[in-house]
Amino acid sequence: MSRIPLWVKAVGGVGFYAAAAILIKEKLAGPPFDANVELGGKVAIVTGANSGIGYEVAKELAARGAKVYLACRDKDKCAAAREDIYLATDNKNIFCRYCDLSSLDSVKRFARRIHKDEEKVDLLVNNAGVMWGPREVTSDGFETQLGVNHLGHFFLTNLLIDSLKKGAPSRIVNVASTAHFKGKINTQDLNSSNDYSESGAYNQSKLANVLFTRELAKRLDGTDVTVNAVHPGLVDTNIVRNTGTFTTALMLFLRPFVWPFIKNSNQGAQSVLHVALHPDLQHTTGQYFNLREIAEPSKDALNDKLALWLWLTSEKWTKLRETCKELNVQPLTHPWESVSSISAPDSKLKSNTINLDAVNQVSSSSLRGNSMAS
Ligand SMILES: NC(=O)c1ccc[n+]([C@@H]2O[C@H](COP(=O)([O-])OP(=O)(O)OC[C@H]3O[C@@H](n4cnc5c(N)ncnc54)[C@H](OP(=O)(O)O)[C@@H]3O)[C@@H](O)[C@H]2O)c1
Repeated sequence: MSRIPLWVKAVGGVGFYAAAAILIKEKLAGPPFDANVELGGKVAIVTGANSGIGYEVAKELAARGAKVYLACRDKDKCAAAREDIYLATDNKNIFCRYCDLSSLDSVKRFARRIHKDEEKVDLLVNNAGVMWGPREVTSDGFETQLGVNHLGHFFLTNLLIDSLKKGAPSRIVNVASTAHFKGKINTQDLNSSNDYSESGAYNQSKLANVLFTRELAKRLDGTDVTVNAVHPGLVDTNIVRNTGTFTTALMLFLRPFVWPFIKNSNQGAQSVLHVALHPDLQHTTGQYFNLREIAEPSKDALNDKLALWLWLTSEKWTKLRETCKELNVQPLTHPWESVSSISAPDSKLKSNTINLDAVNQVSSSSLRGNSMAS
C-alpha cells in the first residue's frame, strides 16, 4: 500500500484549515450592506477615516456618491487614504480635514471650517478611537481614552449640530462597543486621576458613547436628526497598536487561531453602514445596535440621570457653551435643565440630591484634582 508522504499530508492539512477558516469567516461576517441607497448631494463626515472601520465606511459612502470629509489627526495617512478611496471609487469629492480629537482647539477649527464650506451635513460617523494605552492626557488635560473616544466626539457633534439640523433628515452614528457592558462611569474620578486601568478607561469611554447617544437623542427630539450607537463586532484593525508589548505579542500569537472568528475591516464596517444608511432606520433614534440589530445596552447605559450628569460634566469640561457662542451655534438643551435639581446618578456622590450648580462643582473639583485649567 502506497504511503502518503508527510509533506503532502501537512500541505493538505494547512489547505483544509485555510479553506474552512475562510468559509467560517465569511459566514460569521454576514452579507455586505447592499440596500439601494444613493448618496449624490449628501455630505458625510467620518472621524478616524484613514484606518480600519472608518476607512471602509468612508470608502463605501464615496462609492455611493457622497461628498466625504475624512476627519483625521495624521495628514499623511489621511492623504494616502483619500488617494486610495479616490482610485477605488472615482469620486473626486473626498476631502482630508485635520481633526485631532485629543485637542478641543483642533476640533473647534475643524467645525469652523465645515461651517464655512458646507451649508449642511447629512451624516456624521463618530468612529475614531483609541484603546488600552498607558495613561496619557490630551492637550486639554483629559485622560486620553475618555478625551478622544467620548469628549472629542461630544464636542464635535455639538458644534456641528446646526449643520446636521439643516441636513435633516440626517443621522449621527456613534461607534461604541460591547466593552461598554463592563464600563462604569466613575463620577468621583471621571478623569481616572487617582486610579487608572487601561481597560477600565476604555470601557468607561465606550459606556459614555452609549449614554451620550441616548441623551443626545432626547435633545434632538423633533428635529429629524437621529443618533444611534453601534457595536461593529470583533474586528481585525490597528486598534490594538497602543496596547503594551505583552498584549500585542499575545494577540500576534493567537491571531491564526482566532482569525476565522474575527471580521476584517470591511466586514466590520457593514453594521456601521447599516445604521448610517438603512432606509428602514430613518426614524430610529437613541438606540444601541449590536451589529445590525437593536439590542438592550447595559443597565448603566439606561440610567437617564447618569446620562444627564455625563452630559453636563462634558459640557462643562469642554466649555461647550462658550464655544457655541463663539461659533454661533445654538446649544442643545434638555427639558430637565429647566428644573432646579436632579438626583445624583449614584450613591457615590456625597448627597442624594444635587442641583445643577452642584453638578458643575463636582466637575470643577474633578478638574482641579487633575490640575487642568479651569
Ligand atoms: N476593532 C474592534 O474589534 C472594535 C470593536 C468594537 C468597537 N470598535 C470601535 O471602532 C472604532 C474604530 O476602531 P478601529 O477598530 O477601526 O481601529 P483603528 O484601525 O485603530 O482606527 C482608529 C482610527 O481612529 C483614529 N484616531 C485615534 N486617535 C485619534 C485622534 N486623537 N484624533 C483623530 N483620530 C484619531 C486613528 O488615527 P491614526 O491612524 O492616526 O491613529 C484611526 O484612524 C473605535 O471607536 C473602536 O472603539 C472596534
